[in-house]
Amino acid sequence: MRPLGDHLREDRAARSLALSRAATRRAPHYATPAGSTRAIYPERSDRREGNTTTVRVVVGAQFGDEAKGKISDYLASGARYVVRSGGGPNAGHSIHLPEGPVVLHQLACGVLRHGVVGVSGPGMVVQPMKLEAEMQELERRGLLRGQVVLSDRAHVLLPVHEIEDAWEDELRAKKNPQAGLGTTKSGIGPAYSDRSGRWGVRLGDLARPAQLRERLELLYATKTHVPNLPPVEELTSQLVEVGSRLDPLIRPTEPMLWDAIARRETILLEGAQSALLDVDFGTYPFVTSSHPTSAGQLVGSGIPPTEVDEVIGVAKAYCTRVGAGPFPTEDTGERGEYLRRVGGERGATTGRPRRCGWLDLVMLRYGARLNGFTSLAITKVDVLGGLEEVPVCTQYLMPDGSTVRDVLPTQADELARAQPVYENLPGWPEFHQRLKDRVQKEGASALPSTLRRYLDRITEETRVPVQYVGYGADRSETVALAPPTGPGRRASMTPWTG
Ligand code: IMP
Repeated sequence: MRPLGDHLREDRAARSLALSRAATRRAPHYATPAGSTRAIYPERSDRREGNTTTVRVVVGAQFGDEAKGKISDYLASGARYVVRSGGGPNAGHSIHLPEGPVVLHQLACGVLRHGVVGVSGPGMVVQPMKLEAEMQELERRGLLRGQVVLSDRAHVLLPVHEIEDAWEDELRAKKNPQAGLGTTKSGIGPAYSDRSGRWGVRLGDLARPAQLRERLELLYATKTHVPNLPPVEELTSQLVEVGSRLDPLIRPTEPMLWDAIARRETILLEGAQSALLDVDFGTYPFVTSSHPTSAGQLVGSGIPPTEVDEVIGVAKAYCTRVGAGPFPTEDTGERGEYLRRVGGERGATTGRPRRCGWLDLVMLRYGARLNGFTSLAITKVDVLGGLEEVPVCTQYLMPDGSTVRDVLPTQADELARAQPVYENLPGWPEFHQRLKDRVQKEGASALPSTLRRYLDRITEETRVPVQYVGYGADRSETVALAPPTGPGRRASMTPWTG
Protein backbone atom coordinates (compact mmCIF):
# COMPACT_ATOMS: atom_id res chain seq x y z
CA MET A 1 0.00 0.00 0.00
CA ARG A 2 1.28 3.46 -0.82
CA PRO A 3 1.06 5.85 2.13
CA LEU A 4 -1.50 8.61 1.71
CA GLY A 5 1.37 11.10 1.64
CA ASP A 6 2.44 9.70 -1.74
CA HIS A 7 -0.94 10.40 -3.17
CA LEU A 8 -0.84 13.91 -1.77
CA ARG A 9 2.65 14.55 -3.12
CA GLU A 10 1.65 13.30 -6.56
CA ASP A 11 -1.40 15.44 -6.34
CA ARG A 12 0.67 18.50 -5.43
CA ALA A 13 2.83 17.87 -8.49
CA ALA A 14 -0.26 17.37 -10.67
CA ARG A 15 -1.72 20.55 -9.28
CA SER A 16 1.32 22.69 -10.02
CA LEU A 17 1.40 21.22 -13.52
CA ALA A 18 -2.28 21.96 -13.97
CA LEU A 19 -1.81 25.48 -12.65
CA SER A 20 1.10 26.17 -14.97
CA ARG A 21 -0.91 24.81 -17.90
CA ALA A 22 -3.85 26.90 -16.84
CA ALA A 23 -1.60 29.96 -16.69
CA THR A 24 -0.67 29.51 -20.34
CA ARG A 25 -4.36 29.41 -21.29
CA ARG A 26 -5.29 32.16 -18.91
CA ALA A 27 -8.52 34.00 -19.57
CA PRO A 28 -8.20 37.30 -21.35
CA HIS A 29 -8.41 40.38 -19.13
CA TYR A 30 -11.17 42.74 -20.00
CA ALA A 31 -11.36 46.37 -19.05
CA THR A 32 -14.30 47.12 -16.79
CA PRO A 33 -16.10 50.45 -17.17
CA ALA A 34 -14.26 51.69 -14.08
CA GLY A 35 -10.97 51.08 -15.86
CA SER A 36 -9.72 48.31 -13.60
CA THR A 37 -9.17 44.86 -15.04
CA ARG A 38 -10.51 41.56 -13.89
CA ALA A 39 -10.34 38.09 -15.28
CA ILE A 40 -13.73 37.04 -16.45
CA TYR A 41 -15.06 33.69 -17.47
CA PRO A 42 -12.87 32.95 -20.51
CA GLU A 43 -15.43 32.03 -23.13
CA ARG A 44 -18.93 30.65 -22.93
CA SER A 45 -19.21 27.27 -24.54
CA ASP A 46 -21.27 27.71 -27.68
CA ARG A 47 -24.14 25.24 -27.84
CA ARG A 48 -24.66 25.89 -31.57
CA GLU A 49 -21.28 24.62 -32.63
CA GLY A 50 -21.50 21.01 -31.60
CA ASN A 51 -23.57 18.45 -29.84
CA THR A 52 -20.99 17.37 -27.30
CA THR A 53 -22.43 17.06 -23.87
CA THR A 54 -20.50 19.14 -21.38
CA VAL A 55 -22.42 19.16 -18.13
CA ARG A 56 -24.61 16.28 -16.98
CA VAL A 57 -26.48 16.23 -13.72
CA VAL A 58 -27.49 12.99 -11.99
CA VAL A 59 -30.40 13.40 -9.56
CA GLY A 60 -32.07 10.86 -7.28
CA ALA A 61 -35.78 10.83 -8.16
CA GLN A 62 -37.13 9.04 -5.07
CA PHE A 63 -36.04 8.93 -1.42
CA GLY A 64 -32.36 8.14 -1.98
CA ASP A 65 -30.60 4.81 -2.53
CA GLU A 66 -31.70 4.59 -6.18
CA ALA A 67 -28.24 3.31 -7.21
CA LYS A 68 -27.11 6.81 -8.21
CA GLY A 69 -23.55 5.74 -7.40
CA LYS A 70 -23.73 2.95 -9.97
CA ILE A 71 -25.20 5.21 -12.69
CA SER A 72 -22.74 8.00 -11.88
CA ASP A 73 -19.87 5.53 -12.06
CA TYR A 74 -21.15 4.32 -15.44
CA LEU A 75 -21.32 7.90 -16.75
CA ALA A 76 -18.01 8.84 -15.11
CA SER A 77 -16.14 6.76 -17.69
CA GLY A 78 -16.76 9.55 -20.21
CA ALA A 79 -16.17 12.46 -17.82
CA ARG A 80 -13.10 14.47 -16.89
CA TYR A 81 -14.58 15.82 -13.64
CA VAL A 82 -17.13 14.23 -11.31
CA VAL A 83 -18.47 16.62 -8.69
CA ARG A 84 -20.36 15.99 -5.43
CA SER A 85 -22.22 19.17 -4.69
CA GLY A 86 -24.16 18.49 -1.51
CA GLY A 87 -24.57 16.32 1.55
CA GLY A 88 -21.68 14.67 3.34
CA PRO A 89 -21.07 11.45 5.25
CA ASN A 90 -24.81 10.68 5.22
CA ALA A 91 -24.41 9.42 1.62
CA GLY A 92 -23.33 5.89 0.79
CA HIS A 93 -22.74 5.28 -2.91
CA SER A 94 -22.18 1.57 -3.58
CA ILE A 95 -20.16 0.63 -6.63
CA HIS A 96 -19.35 -2.98 -7.51
CA LEU A 97 -15.91 -3.01 -9.12
CA PRO A 98 -14.19 -6.13 -10.43
CA GLU A 99 -11.98 -5.86 -7.29
CA GLY A 100 -15.03 -5.95 -4.99
CA PRO A 101 -17.67 -3.57 -3.65
CA VAL A 102 -16.82 -0.01 -2.64
CA VAL A 103 -19.00 2.40 -0.68
CA LEU A 104 -18.16 6.06 -1.16
CA HIS A 105 -19.43 8.56 1.39
CA GLN A 106 -17.72 11.90 0.82
CA LEU A 107 -15.66 11.34 -2.31
CA ALA A 108 -17.05 11.65 -5.82
CA CYS A 109 -17.03 8.38 -7.74
CA GLY A 110 -14.58 9.86 -10.28
CA VAL A 111 -11.75 9.09 -7.85
CA LEU A 112 -12.09 5.42 -8.83
CA ARG A 113 -11.08 6.08 -12.46
CA HIS A 114 -7.72 6.99 -13.93
CA GLY A 115 -7.71 10.40 -15.57
CA VAL A 116 -10.82 11.61 -13.75
CA VAL A 117 -10.91 14.34 -11.11
CA GLY A 118 -13.30 13.68 -8.22
CA VAL A 119 -14.39 16.94 -6.64
CA SER A 120 -15.98 17.25 -3.21
CA GLY A 121 -17.65 20.55 -3.97
CA PRO A 122 -18.60 23.80 -2.22
CA GLY A 123 -22.13 22.69 -1.27
CA MET A 124 -20.91 19.77 0.82
CA VAL A 125 -20.43 19.47 4.54
CA VAL A 126 -17.23 17.45 4.87
CA GLN A 127 -16.13 15.51 7.96
CA PRO A 128 -12.37 15.71 7.34
CA MET A 129 -11.27 12.84 9.61
CA LYS A 130 -13.77 10.49 7.98
CA LEU A 131 -12.83 11.74 4.53
CA GLU A 132 -9.17 11.02 5.18
CA ALA A 133 -10.07 7.52 6.40
CA GLU A 134 -12.13 6.96 3.25
CA MET A 135 -9.16 7.95 1.08
CA GLN A 136 -6.78 5.78 3.08
CA GLU A 137 -9.05 2.76 2.72
CA LEU A 138 -9.23 3.25 -1.07
CA GLU A 139 -5.43 3.68 -1.18
CA ARG A 140 -4.99 0.50 0.82
CA ARG A 141 -7.09 -1.40 -1.71
CA GLY A 142 -5.30 0.23 -4.66
CA LEU A 143 -8.52 1.82 -5.85
CA LEU A 144 -7.70 5.53 -5.49
CA ARG A 145 -6.96 6.03 -9.17
CA GLY A 146 -8.35 9.46 -10.00
CA GLN A 147 -7.42 12.80 -8.49
CA VAL A 148 -9.11 14.10 -5.33
CA VAL A 149 -9.93 17.80 -5.11
CA LEU A 150 -11.73 19.40 -2.16
CA SER A 151 -13.44 22.77 -2.30
CA ASP A 152 -12.09 25.37 0.10
CA ARG A 153 -15.68 26.63 0.43
CA ALA A 154 -17.11 23.30 1.63
CA HIS A 155 -18.11 23.46 5.27
CA VAL A 156 -16.45 21.35 7.91
CA LEU A 157 -18.74 18.90 9.64
CA LEU A 158 -17.41 18.74 13.18
CA PRO A 159 -17.69 16.09 15.91
CA VAL A 160 -19.94 18.57 17.73
CA HIS A 161 -22.42 18.32 14.83
CA GLU A 162 -22.52 14.54 15.13
CA ILE A 163 -23.28 14.75 18.86
CA GLU A 164 -25.86 17.46 18.26
CA ASP A 165 -27.60 15.48 15.49
CA ALA A 166 -28.16 12.45 17.74
CA TRP A 167 -29.21 14.71 20.61
CA GLU A 168 -31.70 16.66 18.44
CA ASP A 169 -33.33 13.58 16.94
CA GLU A 170 -33.71 12.03 20.40
CA LEU A 171 -35.26 15.27 21.63
CA ARG A 172 -37.78 15.26 18.78
CA ALA A 173 -38.74 11.64 19.38
CA LYS A 174 -38.99 12.21 23.14
CA LYS A 175 -41.36 15.15 22.63
CA ASN A 176 -43.43 13.23 20.09
CA PRO A 177 -42.68 9.68 18.89
CA GLN A 178 -43.99 10.64 15.42
CA ALA A 179 -41.57 13.57 15.14
CA GLY A 180 -38.24 11.71 15.10
CA LEU A 181 -36.70 11.97 11.63
CA GLY A 182 -34.46 8.92 11.85
CA THR A 183 -31.47 10.87 10.53
CA THR A 184 -28.22 9.10 9.71
CA LYS A 185 -26.75 10.72 12.87
CA SER A 186 -23.84 11.96 10.84
CA GLY A 187 -24.29 15.61 11.81
CA ILE A 188 -25.85 16.89 8.59
CA GLY A 189 -28.67 19.05 10.01
CA PRO A 190 -26.53 20.88 12.60
CA ALA A 191 -23.68 21.41 10.09
CA TYR A 192 -26.01 22.99 7.52
CA SER A 193 -27.72 25.04 10.28
CA ASP A 194 -24.36 26.47 11.28
CA ARG A 195 -23.54 27.17 7.65
CA SER A 196 -26.79 29.15 7.21
CA GLY A 197 -26.39 30.79 10.62
CA ARG A 198 -22.87 31.87 9.60
CA TRP A 199 -21.23 30.10 12.52
CA GLY A 200 -19.55 27.53 10.30
CA VAL A 201 -15.94 26.62 9.60
CA ARG A 202 -14.85 25.90 6.04
CA LEU A 203 -12.19 23.59 4.68
CA GLY A 204 -10.20 26.66 3.64
CA ASP A 205 -9.99 27.69 7.33
CA LEU A 206 -8.06 24.57 8.33
CA ALA A 207 -4.80 26.08 7.08
CA ARG A 208 -5.27 29.20 9.25
CA PRO A 209 -4.93 27.98 12.87
CA ALA A 210 -5.54 31.32 14.61
CA GLN A 211 -8.67 32.05 12.61
CA LEU A 212 -9.83 28.46 13.02
CA ARG A 213 -9.52 28.64 16.81
CA GLU A 214 -11.44 31.92 16.84
CA ARG A 215 -14.23 30.47 14.67
CA LEU A 216 -14.47 27.38 16.85
CA GLU A 217 -14.69 29.43 20.05
CA LEU A 218 -17.49 31.47 18.53
CA LEU A 219 -19.28 28.32 17.44
CA TYR A 220 -18.88 26.70 20.85
CA ALA A 221 -20.55 29.73 22.42
CA THR A 222 -23.73 28.63 20.63
CA LYS A 223 -23.48 25.02 21.83
CA THR A 224 -23.74 25.31 25.59
CA HIS A 225 -26.80 23.03 25.51
CA VAL A 226 -24.93 20.15 23.84
CA PRO A 227 -23.44 17.57 26.21
CA ASN A 228 -19.98 15.94 26.00
CA LEU A 229 -18.26 18.26 23.55
CA PRO A 230 -14.51 17.77 23.07
CA PRO A 231 -12.49 20.73 24.43
CA VAL A 232 -11.97 23.45 21.84
CA GLU A 233 -8.13 23.31 22.04
CA GLU A 234 -8.18 19.57 21.37
CA LEU A 235 -10.54 20.00 18.42
CA THR A 236 -8.44 22.85 17.00
CA SER A 237 -5.24 20.81 17.01
CA GLN A 238 -6.99 17.76 15.56
CA LEU A 239 -8.37 19.88 12.71
CA VAL A 240 -5.06 21.67 12.08
CA GLU A 241 -3.35 18.29 11.84
CA VAL A 242 -5.81 16.71 9.46
CA GLY A 243 -6.00 20.01 7.56
CA SER A 244 -2.24 20.01 6.97
CA ARG A 245 -2.43 16.54 5.43
CA LEU A 246 -5.40 17.44 3.24
CA ASP A 247 -4.10 20.91 2.35
CA PRO A 248 -2.64 19.98 -1.06
CA LEU A 249 -6.10 18.84 -2.14
CA ILE A 250 -8.01 21.91 -0.93
CA ARG A 251 -8.50 24.71 -3.45
CA PRO A 252 -11.13 26.89 -5.14
CA THR A 253 -13.01 24.44 -7.35
CA GLU A 254 -15.42 26.68 -9.22
CA PRO A 255 -12.81 28.39 -11.46
CA MET A 256 -11.39 24.95 -12.21
CA LEU A 257 -14.85 23.82 -13.42
CA TRP A 258 -15.54 27.02 -15.37
CA ASP A 259 -12.24 26.59 -17.20
CA ALA A 260 -13.08 22.94 -17.86
CA ILE A 261 -16.40 23.99 -19.43
CA ALA A 262 -14.56 26.49 -21.61
CA ARG A 263 -12.28 23.67 -22.77
CA ARG A 264 -15.39 21.54 -23.44
CA GLU A 265 -14.39 18.90 -20.96
CA THR A 266 -17.19 16.77 -19.61
CA ILE A 267 -18.41 17.35 -16.08
CA LEU A 268 -20.72 15.04 -14.22
CA LEU A 269 -22.57 16.30 -11.16
CA GLU A 270 -23.09 13.22 -9.02
CA GLY A 271 -26.22 13.70 -6.97
CA ALA A 272 -26.39 12.53 -3.37
CA GLN A 273 -29.60 11.97 -1.40
CA SER A 274 -32.64 12.69 -3.52
CA ALA A 275 -35.19 15.23 -4.74
CA LEU A 276 -37.83 14.01 -2.28
CA LEU A 277 -35.41 14.62 0.59
CA ASP A 278 -34.83 18.23 -0.54
CA VAL A 279 -35.18 20.60 2.41
CA ASP A 280 -37.70 22.75 0.50
CA PHE A 281 -39.34 20.43 -2.04
CA GLY A 282 -39.18 17.10 -0.21
CA THR A 283 -41.49 15.69 2.43
CA TYR A 284 -40.60 18.32 5.06
CA PRO A 285 -39.67 17.91 7.90
CA PHE A 286 -38.72 14.32 6.94
CA VAL A 287 -35.93 15.51 4.68
CA THR A 288 -32.21 16.10 4.72
CA SER A 289 -30.81 19.63 5.10
CA SER A 290 -29.40 20.20 1.62
CA HIS A 291 -30.87 20.67 -1.87
CA PRO A 292 -30.45 17.39 -3.75
CA THR A 293 -32.36 18.74 -6.78
CA SER A 294 -30.79 19.69 -10.12
CA ALA A 295 -30.94 23.37 -9.13
CA GLY A 296 -29.32 22.56 -5.78
CA GLN A 297 -26.45 20.87 -7.53
CA LEU A 298 -25.72 24.01 -9.49
CA VAL A 299 -25.70 26.11 -6.33
CA GLY A 300 -23.50 23.48 -4.70
CA SER A 301 -20.94 23.43 -7.49
CA GLY A 302 -20.95 27.01 -8.80
CA ILE A 303 -21.86 25.89 -12.32
CA PRO A 304 -24.34 28.24 -14.01
CA PRO A 305 -27.72 26.81 -15.15
CA THR A 306 -27.06 27.86 -18.74
CA GLU A 307 -24.27 25.26 -18.96
CA VAL A 308 -26.35 22.19 -18.18
CA ASP A 309 -26.95 19.80 -21.06
CA GLU A 310 -28.65 16.83 -19.45
CA VAL A 311 -30.46 16.08 -16.22
CA ILE A 312 -30.71 12.36 -15.56
CA GLY A 313 -33.24 11.25 -12.95
CA VAL A 314 -32.41 7.94 -11.30
CA ALA A 315 -35.22 5.78 -9.94
CA LYS A 316 -35.43 2.18 -8.84
CA ALA A 317 -37.98 0.02 -10.67
CA TYR A 318 -39.70 -0.03 -7.25
CA CYS A 319 -39.20 2.33 -4.31
CA THR A 320 -37.51 2.38 -0.91
CA ARG A 321 -37.14 4.81 1.94
CA VAL A 322 -34.88 4.75 4.98
CA GLY A 323 -35.82 6.83 8.01
CA ALA A 324 -39.19 8.31 8.90
CA GLY A 325 -41.69 10.14 6.68
CA PRO A 326 -44.63 9.52 4.36
CA PHE A 327 -44.29 6.76 1.78
CA PRO A 328 -47.64 6.17 0.01
CA THR A 329 -46.63 3.03 -1.90
CA GLU A 330 -44.91 1.33 1.06
CA ASP A 331 -45.74 -2.37 1.24
CA THR A 332 -45.48 -3.50 4.85
CA GLY A 333 -46.58 -7.05 4.01
CA GLU A 334 -44.87 -10.11 2.59
CA ARG A 335 -44.22 -8.53 -0.80
CA GLY A 336 -42.39 -5.61 0.82
CA GLU A 337 -40.31 -8.13 2.75
CA TYR A 338 -39.59 -9.91 -0.55
CA LEU A 339 -38.29 -6.66 -2.10
CA ARG A 340 -36.11 -6.02 0.94
CA ARG A 341 -34.61 -9.51 0.83
CA VAL A 342 -34.09 -9.85 -2.93
CA GLY A 343 -33.02 -6.22 -3.37
CA GLY A 344 -30.60 -6.35 -0.39
CA GLU A 345 -32.35 -3.24 0.93
CA ARG A 346 -30.25 -2.11 3.87
CA GLY A 347 -28.77 1.39 4.28
CA ALA A 348 -25.20 1.59 2.93
CA THR A 349 -24.29 4.15 5.62
CA THR A 350 -26.32 3.06 8.64
CA GLY A 351 -27.12 -0.61 7.88
CA ARG A 352 -30.78 0.08 8.73
CA PRO A 353 -33.38 -2.03 6.85
CA ARG A 354 -35.04 0.08 4.17
CA ARG A 355 -38.80 0.40 3.91
CA CYS A 356 -39.90 -1.05 0.56
CA GLY A 357 -42.79 -0.46 -1.83
CA TRP A 358 -43.78 0.09 -5.44
CA LEU A 359 -42.88 2.55 -8.15
CA ASP A 360 -44.73 5.79 -7.58
CA LEU A 361 -45.34 7.64 -10.85
CA VAL A 362 -46.88 10.63 -9.06
CA MET A 363 -43.53 11.22 -7.36
CA LEU A 364 -41.66 10.56 -10.58
CA ARG A 365 -43.75 13.12 -12.47
CA TYR A 366 -43.25 15.59 -9.64
CA GLY A 367 -39.51 14.90 -9.72
CA ALA A 368 -39.44 15.34 -13.50
CA ARG A 369 -41.14 18.72 -13.27
CA LEU A 370 -39.05 19.89 -10.37
CA ASN A 371 -35.69 18.87 -11.83
CA GLY A 372 -36.31 19.10 -15.57
CA PHE A 373 -35.26 15.51 -16.22
CA THR A 374 -34.13 15.04 -19.80
CA SER A 375 -33.89 11.28 -19.32
CA LEU A 376 -34.37 8.59 -16.72
CA ALA A 377 -32.19 5.75 -15.48
CA ILE A 378 -34.28 2.89 -14.09
CA THR A 379 -32.27 0.63 -11.81
CA LYS A 380 -32.61 -2.77 -10.14
CA VAL A 381 -35.08 -4.16 -12.71
CA ASP A 382 -33.54 -7.58 -11.97
CA VAL A 383 -34.97 -7.49 -8.43
CA LEU A 384 -38.52 -7.62 -9.84
CA GLY A 385 -37.62 -10.39 -12.34
CA GLY A 386 -39.81 -13.47 -11.86
CA LEU A 387 -42.83 -11.62 -10.42
CA GLU A 388 -46.08 -12.36 -12.22
CA GLU A 389 -47.34 -8.80 -11.97
CA VAL A 390 -45.72 -5.53 -10.96
CA PRO A 391 -47.91 -2.80 -9.45
CA VAL A 392 -47.17 0.84 -10.28
CA CYS A 393 -48.95 3.76 -8.67
CA THR A 394 -50.43 6.07 -11.31
CA GLN A 395 -52.27 8.52 -9.05
CA TYR A 396 -53.34 9.20 -5.46
CA LEU A 397 -56.84 9.30 -4.15
CA MET A 398 -57.08 11.91 -1.39
CA PRO A 399 -59.45 11.75 1.64
CA ASP A 400 -61.65 14.52 0.14
CA GLY A 401 -62.21 12.43 -3.02
CA SER A 402 -59.83 14.42 -5.24
CA THR A 403 -57.07 12.78 -7.27
CA VAL A 404 -53.43 13.80 -7.48
CA ARG A 405 -51.20 13.01 -10.46
CA ASP A 406 -48.09 15.18 -10.33
CA VAL A 407 -48.15 17.68 -7.47
CA LEU A 408 -47.28 16.40 -4.03
CA PRO A 409 -49.26 17.79 -1.10
CA THR A 410 -47.03 20.24 0.78
CA GLN A 411 -47.91 18.80 4.19
CA ALA A 412 -46.31 15.47 5.10
CA ASP A 413 -49.40 14.30 7.00
CA GLU A 414 -51.60 14.92 3.93
CA LEU A 415 -49.22 12.91 1.79
CA ALA A 416 -49.34 10.14 4.40
CA ARG A 417 -53.13 9.98 3.91
CA ALA A 418 -52.89 9.64 0.11
CA GLN A 419 -54.23 6.31 -1.17
CA PRO A 420 -52.15 5.02 -4.08
CA VAL A 421 -54.13 3.85 -7.13
CA TYR A 422 -52.27 0.99 -8.79
CA GLU A 423 -52.07 -0.37 -12.29
CA ASN A 424 -50.74 -3.95 -12.47
CA LEU A 425 -48.32 -4.51 -15.30
CA PRO A 426 -47.15 -7.94 -16.47
CA GLY A 427 -43.87 -9.02 -14.90
CA TRP A 428 -40.75 -10.18 -16.72
CA PRO A 429 -38.55 -13.27 -16.40
CA GLU A 430 -35.78 -13.62 -13.85
CA PHE A 431 -32.46 -12.07 -14.79
CA HIS A 432 -30.45 -15.26 -14.86
CA GLN A 433 -26.87 -15.17 -16.11
CA ARG A 434 -27.81 -16.20 -19.66
CA LEU A 435 -30.14 -13.20 -20.00
CA LYS A 436 -27.49 -10.89 -18.53
CA ASP A 437 -24.94 -12.20 -21.03
CA ARG A 438 -27.34 -11.56 -23.91
CA VAL A 439 -27.98 -7.98 -22.75
CA GLN A 440 -24.21 -7.45 -22.45
CA LYS A 441 -23.74 -8.68 -26.01
CA GLU A 442 -26.81 -7.40 -27.82
CA GLY A 443 -27.70 -4.33 -25.77
CA ALA A 444 -31.19 -3.09 -24.92
CA SER A 445 -32.85 -5.12 -27.68
CA ALA A 446 -32.25 -8.24 -25.54
CA LEU A 447 -34.33 -6.92 -22.64
CA PRO A 448 -37.52 -8.96 -22.15
CA SER A 449 -40.52 -7.48 -23.97
CA THR A 450 -42.63 -7.16 -20.79
CA LEU A 451 -39.82 -5.18 -19.17
CA ARG A 452 -39.70 -2.91 -22.23
CA ARG A 453 -43.44 -2.43 -21.83
CA TYR A 454 -42.87 -1.48 -18.19
CA LEU A 455 -40.23 1.07 -19.16
CA ASP A 456 -42.44 2.38 -21.97
CA ARG A 457 -45.23 2.88 -19.48
CA ILE A 458 -42.90 4.95 -17.29
CA THR A 459 -42.05 7.11 -20.28
CA GLU A 460 -45.70 7.46 -21.32
CA GLU A 461 -46.64 8.53 -17.81
CA THR A 462 -43.71 10.89 -17.14
CA ARG A 463 -43.01 12.04 -20.72
CA VAL A 464 -39.32 11.50 -20.02
CA PRO A 465 -37.42 8.86 -22.01
CA VAL A 466 -35.79 6.01 -20.17
CA GLN A 467 -32.19 6.05 -21.34
CA TYR A 468 -30.35 3.74 -18.95
CA VAL A 469 -31.40 0.49 -17.32
CA GLY A 470 -29.56 -1.16 -14.42
CA TYR A 471 -30.07 -4.92 -14.26
CA GLY A 472 -27.57 -5.99 -11.58
CA ALA A 473 -25.18 -4.63 -8.98
CA ASP A 474 -22.05 -5.08 -11.07
CA ARG A 475 -20.39 -2.10 -12.74
CA SER A 476 -20.97 -3.68 -16.16
CA GLU A 477 -24.68 -4.34 -15.59
CA THR A 478 -26.08 -1.13 -17.01
CA VAL A 479 -27.40 -0.86 -20.55
CA ALA A 480 -27.92 2.35 -22.51
CA LEU A 481 -30.89 2.75 -24.78
CA ALA A 482 -30.72 4.89 -27.90
CA PRO A 483 -30.68 8.59 -27.03
CA PRO A 484 -33.81 10.59 -27.78
CA THR A 485 -33.86 11.75 -31.38
CA GLY A 486 -35.14 14.94 -32.99
CA PRO A 487 -34.85 18.52 -31.86
CA GLY A 488 -36.60 18.27 -28.50
CA ARG A 489 -34.83 16.38 -25.73
CA ARG A 490 -38.03 15.18 -24.17
CA ALA A 491 -39.76 12.40 -26.05
CA SER A 492 -43.08 10.86 -25.14
CA MET A 493 -42.04 7.31 -26.05
CA THR A 494 -38.96 5.33 -25.15
CA PRO A 495 -36.74 5.20 -28.22
CA TRP A 496 -35.74 1.54 -28.33
CA THR A 497 -32.64 0.45 -30.13
CA GLY A 498 -34.03 -2.98 -30.90
P1 IMP B 1 -29.76 13.25 7.47
O1 IMP B 1 -29.42 13.59 6.04
O2 IMP B 1 -28.75 12.34 8.11
O3 IMP B 1 -30.07 14.45 8.30
O4 IMP B 1 -31.13 12.38 7.45
C1 IMP B 1 -32.40 12.94 7.11
C2 IMP B 1 -33.24 11.92 6.36
O5 IMP B 1 -32.67 11.68 5.08
C3 IMP B 1 -33.31 10.55 7.06
O6 IMP B 1 -34.59 9.99 6.82
C4 IMP B 1 -32.25 9.75 6.35
O7 IMP B 1 -32.50 8.37 6.40
C5 IMP B 1 -32.38 10.29 4.93
N1 IMP B 1 -31.12 10.20 4.18
C6 IMP B 1 -30.03 10.98 4.27
N2 IMP B 1 -29.08 10.60 3.41
C7 IMP B 1 -29.58 9.57 2.74
C8 IMP B 1 -29.07 8.75 1.69
O8 IMP B 1 -27.94 8.93 1.20
N3 IMP B 1 -29.90 7.77 1.25
C9 IMP B 1 -31.15 7.58 1.76
N4 IMP B 1 -31.66 8.32 2.73
C10 IMP B 1 -30.89 9.30 3.23
